[in-house]
Amino acid sequence: MRGRKPIIAIDGPVGAGKSTTARRVAEELCYLYVDTGAMYRAVTLDVLDHGIDPEDEIGVEDIVCSSKIELMIDDRGQRTFLNGKDVSERIRDRDVTKAVSSVSAMKAVRDRMTELQRELGFKGGIVMEGRDIGTVVFPDAEFKIYLDASPEIRAQRRYEELSAKGATITYNKLLDEIKERDRLNTMREIAPLRKAEDAITVDTTNLTLEEQVREILLIVKGENEAGKK
Ligand code: DC
Repeated sequence: MRGRKPIIAIDGPVGAGKSTTARRVAEELCYLYVDTGAMYRAVTLDVLDHGIDPEDEIGVEDIVCSSKIELMIDDRGQRTFLNGKDVSERIRDRDVTKAVSSVSAMKAVRDRMTELQRELGFKGGIVMEGRDIGTVVFPDAEFKIYLDASPEIRAQRRYEELSAKGATITYNKLLDEIKERDRLNTMREIAPLRKAEDAITVDTTNLTLEEQVREILLIVKGENEAGKK
């Protein structure tokens, strides 16, 4: 591990602010940023595009073997390509969001994504965010952050984000969806969402984005009380 730049693993539940925070931390450090949720979403889109039932393990396995997923960074952040096509917006649609919990729970999918993520990170100098980065993908990462927030504040943030885009979903529906996704992500058999024993929790319930970014940068620079191991 010596001689290469650190790996910063950021895990946590949906809506804790991982993507924006991780991206900003990566920018500040001039590190590569990888949103692994986008990779699971891209495979899920490939499954749906092929008319495969997201619960059909054999069908999904076939797709994941042939899916070509590539990530690129531009001034809008990470762009996700599936079989050569930019699907960065499409993977955020509700049909993909609904199917991704099932697809991402499958062993063949997790094995393939973990392999790709390790290839992306092996040189270090990377901020990778997801659900199992500090526990499974890079258990030896130099820095492990577990970003958390109450379900209510996560639903509220999502509600504000979607309302600004003109969506008409209610806060209560979003809160139910968040709780259900938490349940599926933490209960699944393979690589469930959990805090790595040596991860530092950053609770974002009462933090602004700026404060979250600053907190993580302090941990990385070893200036945070919790970060002084
Ligand atoms: O972070 P997100 O909502 O875009 O993630 C999409 C889905 O992928 C979510 O249901 C959890 C799953 N996921 C995962 O299982 N492991 C990861 N490392 C990242 C995401």
